[in-house]
Amino acid sequence: MYTQERERELIELTRKLLSELERIRKAGKEEAQEYVQELREVINYHDYKYYVQASPVISDYEYDQLFRALRDLEKKYPELITPDSPTQRVASEITGAFPTVRHYTPMLSLDNAYTEEELRDFDRRVRELTGLDVVEYSVEPKYDGAGIALLYRDDLFVRGATRGDGETGEDITNNLRTVRTIPLKAEFSRFGIRLIELRGEVLINREEFRKMNEERLEEGLPPFANPRNAAAGSIRLQNPAEVAKRKLDAVVYQVSYVEPESRHPNTHYEAIEMLHLLGFKTPFPDMKLCKGIDEVIEYCREWEEKREEYPYEIDGMVVKVNRKEYYEVLGFTSHHPRWAIAFKFKPKQATTKLIDVVFQVGRVGTITPVGKLEPVEIGGVVVSSVSLFNEDFIREKDIRIGDLVLVERAGDVIPYVVEVIKEARDGDEVPIEFPDRCPSCGSKLVKLPGEVAWRCINISCPAQVVLRLKHWGSREAMDIRGLGEATSKALYEKGLVKDVGDLYYLKVVDLMKLPGFAEKSAMNLYNAIQESKNRGLDRVLYGLGIRYVGLTTAKKLSQVIDSIWDLRDMPVEKLEAIEGIGDVVARSIKEFFSREENVKVIEKLDRAGVKLRRTKLEKEGPLKGMVFVFTGTLRCCSRERAGELVESLGGTFSNSVTSKTTYLVVGEEPGRTKLRRAEQLGIKLLNEEDFLNMVKDYVDLEELRREEKREGYLF
Ligand code: IVH
Repeated sequence: MYTQERERELIELTRKLLSELERIRKAGKEEAQEYVQELREVINYHDYKYYVQASPVISDYEYDQLFRALRDLEKKYPELITPDSPTQRVASEITGAFPTVRHYTPMLSLDNAYTEEELRDFDRRVRELTGLDVVEYSVEPKYDGAGIALLYRDDLFVRGATRGDGETGEDITNNLRTVRTIPLKAEFSRFGIRLIELRGEVLINREEFRKMNEERLEEGLPPFANPRNAAAGSIRLQNPAEVAKRKLDAVVYQVSYVEPESRHPNTHYEAIEMLHLLGFKTPFPDMKLCKGIDEVIEYCREWEEKREEYPYEIDGMVVKVNRKEYYEVLGFTSHHPRWAIAFKFKPKQATTKLIDVVFQVGRVGTITPVGKLEPVEIGGVVVSSVSLFNEDFIREKDIRIGDLVLVERAGDVIPYVVEVIKEARDGDEVPIEFPDRCPSCGSKLVKLPGEVAWRCINISCPAQVVLRLKHWGSREAMDIRGLGEATSKALYEKGLVKDVGDLYYLKVVDLMKLPGFAEKSAMNLYNAIQESKNRGLDRVLYGLGIRYVGLTTAKKLSQVIDSIWDLRDMPVEKLEAIEGIGDVVARSIKEFFSREENVKVIEKLDRAGVKLRRTKLEKEGPLKGMVFVFTGTLRCCSRERAGELVESLGGTFSNSVTSKTTYLVVGEEPGRTKLRRAEQLGIKLLNEEDFLNMVKDYVDLEELRREEKREGYLF
């Protein structure tokens, strides 16, 4: 469709236009004519990249800027509008993999507001057209997922489709039937409704997204850039069984068509209430009725502040005129309804240049390529480097030094290269060469069977030693204040410390040799090191940085062994028999203890008086030896809190039912898998009351209630 050369030209033109937005806005008629031409060319091209090839080369925000520039020029000079202008249609995303279906009403987009002023303009237009002094708006989150249309006939879910070109979409009913938040049956007949079409969004929550990417990385697959891509990719998989494995959610936020028409709820708010009542996931209770635009702005700002705390990615708020009776007078453009607008938060993507790649050595020797970027602001933060994960990621995306890349900073996820803009290449880009030797110690790198990462396996590799020291001093491990990366590095470089055992033999005068250390600071660090001796067995186990032994595993181990030496002496089968310890973890522990240098470090710690045995407190407790699993919602407290309670009484808390489980505590709306598994294994079930009865003599339930009430749990 586009030659390579043409693509390069168009990207250059895009960047030129983006840098001239101010000038475009002020363009006189003659100049406007030229700009309109150029804007159409680039927008058509970006539509093609986005919808047909599904590989956009600019961020949504940048696209929007271009689209608006064109729309504004056409508004200023209507004689320049042509029927084939991209402003006159909705772009298409149909690929041909699914049959197409016609939507009952066109699935339009939303107009965007980026500033308060633009929201006020919207309100002014609405007031002018409706004649109202104060407009009532319903305001709700703008979910960043994949748009869908759901059709219910005679209370049954009969059809689900993607947005497509807005008129027709792809029929993905079978895939959507696997999404648990889409009811297969909903009693619309109670409201006198025979047929109803709903609009919504398929989503993946942040936690699932994180897990999904972790798994993908472990399997050597490239991670998804953001939850939206993960959701959009998932609903268009060809095999519904695969779709079912992805933990998808769906939110419905609009009623678009009702038969008989007279049964259409009068307000948007009531429509959502009805859907909520019928068991759909909706913006309720995160939607708010606002009287006038000031309240709207306040609510939008409130959400912009807390967007990262929300379980789903949201990219703005949608402001809708609440009363349906005004929809008609407000009407539609070919692109969006005039009774709604999206207030967009700060964008999280931008394009920039990859100027270099460096290779970092991790604590366990993993080599991670890190891209250095031309600094670019994304969502209020300047981003200048980005993880490229591993060699496969680089090869898959064919990332080269000098490339223009689309970078996203999605919430708590680290900056990520979404796309390489290959079309912008001029031939000077340099493929990334993976080193075959460790950048820190020079030893040959290896790739272990079944792993994607290259690894330095030299246990004395300086980079790893420094990171191990830092990890040992970290808050969750031995909590040694003052032992950060810089101090760890200085200790190693001065030859004072080679492993964590050496820390405990340092004297104040030794520490005074460190750059920037005087008597007082040296004394402080000395004391912090000495105090750390009594942190406990779990912290030592975690601090040693054994692969796959995170905090939870370390805690579990420390509850079933008497001393760290048990781990060295236990056969692997016995380790595996411990609740929550799988074969990978067990083998990694054995591997750790089979190395003489590691055993020596532990001996050093032992001689220095670091506590390596379990204390009485850890061993005793009324729930000793019992393994608890929880399912469903508890009324007393969160499951995590209940788990802490079990552990504080000497029991073990686990997330999955196995033959080692003693009790499954069943709350409200329990998970079917856990229940079925417990049944199969003959595990004893307890209800919440039974559980509380078991612990009530040891904990202050009143206090628990007060604590959790603050966090929203009821007794
Ligand atoms: S209402 C006719 N409400 O944003 C108006 N859309 O950028 C129908 N979206 O195409 C849309 N959250 O896919 C509406 N609470 C929300 C939304 C929402 C996300 C999506 C939707 C739409 C796109 C426009």
